[in-house]
Amino acid sequence: MALSTRAIKASTPDPTNFFWQILKDLWHPETNPGGYVSLGLAENSLMHDTLREHLSGNVAVQNDDFTYGDGKKSIKNTLARFLNRHFQPVNPIEPSHLTISNGCSSAIEHTAWAFGNPGDVFLLGRPYYGTFVPDITLRMGTKLDLVDFDEIDPLGIDAVEKYERCILRAQTRGERVAGLILANPHNPLGRCYSWAFLTAIMKLCQRHQVNLISDEVYALSTFPNTVDSGVEINPFTSVLSIDTKDLIDPALVHVIWGVSKDFGANGLRLGAIISQQNPTLHEALVPVILYSSTSSMADQAVVDMLSDDQWVERYIEENRQSLQQSYEHVTTWARTNGIEYAPGVNAAFFLWVNLGAVYKKRHPEAETEKTLDDVIMDALLKGKVFIASGAAFGSEKPGWFRIVFTQRREYLDEGLRRIMTAMGASLK
Ligand SMILES: Cc1ncc(COP(=O)(O)O)c(C=O)c1O
Repeated sequence: MALSTRAIKASTPDPTNFFWQILKDLWHPETNPGGYVSLGLAENSLMHDTLREHLSGNVAVQNDDFTYGDGKKSIKNTLARFLNRHFQPVNPIEPSHLTISNGCSSAIEHTAWAFGNPGDVFLLGRPYYGTFVPDITLRMGTKLDLVDFDEIDPLGIDAVEKYERCILRAQTRGERVAGLILANPHNPLGRCYSWAFLTAIMKLCQRHQVNLISDEVYALSTFPNTVDSGVEINPFTSVLSIDTKDLIDPALVHVIWGVSKDFGANGLRLGAIISQQNPTLHEALVPVILYSSTSSMADQAVVDMLSDDQWVERYIEENRQSLQQSYEHVTTWARTNGIEYAPGVNAAFFLWVNLGAVYKKRHPEAETEKTLDDVIMDALLKGKVFIASGAAFGSEKPGWFRIVFTQRREYLDEGLRRIMTAMGASLK
């Protein structure tokens, strides 16, 4: 076979990576009643009608859209203005602080390329957004060091010490720690890091000269939690809004943001690396970005969308209300069915649920050669419903799964109904 060694390695099917297959066979009550309901991908469909109406009413195809465009001038100007309005940066964001790519996934991979030599390490706390793993390790030769928290809250201030221990251990092994990645708001836990945590992690990164990569792709998808009590809930704080003086060299601070989540537009494919004091990073990425460039039509759509301040304000507000309602709905479902979940969610699209406990209650004999997560995933797929397994998200505890609650209500309810059936139903 005339393939490279790395291509042969990548061609080996990964049994845990089946969502592309699921996407080809999605349930539709009329056109594909036998298909899968997917509550597994981090998509927000709640505002799609609003988005479609705005774009189809405003975006006209221009001859320039068929060209390489204007060197990303207008998208960078628009994005800088938008970020200044919504991220409260200490220092105004300028177009030169941005590198634009076709989504946050490629933006994250670019940070691995830019900060890490092959063999260098990036730290990632558990549980994590599963695709960070290939982003860092698939093509760049950089490695991940996964941080365990045991019984400590992964977003709590005590977690900082766990990160430091990992850095020290890597250094003892003779490895260079190039970066530390946070998803803030967190995927899959749907919570925000506190100001105290962020400043402590900045100091840690400064002490060890580690790049801090703060993935803030859910920054504007925050909402009031009216459901859970007895948990600390932090408002979202962007690292851009923290004065780095006496904390960290600002050249080490980088933010990822794009339209995939906050504008429910995974398919537009537009993301950015925002780094305010590291011009060399942006210069280094100029030749590389050719391979992950946005299309001129995507630029034009996003420029149009983000330039309409009134529409943007309304969109964010309505989106927040929809997120809040969906969260209330999915937590009511969980409580009604006796399903434990990780409370305190005030951002993003996820409910992190302990299906393991539920499944074992119905199937005390469930211990087989397979792991509990695999047994449950088999049952879910047999029941034609897909959700992400904690095993793919580095969960420290077995049996936890991530439900995406930002699908239209009928679709969500069909998925929740199928989950209960797959668990053995009548669990109340
Ligand atoms: C934390 C986080 N970062 C990045 C991405 C990928 O974003 P994009 O669609 O812009 O590549 C996701 C998608 O789920 C995500 O949850």
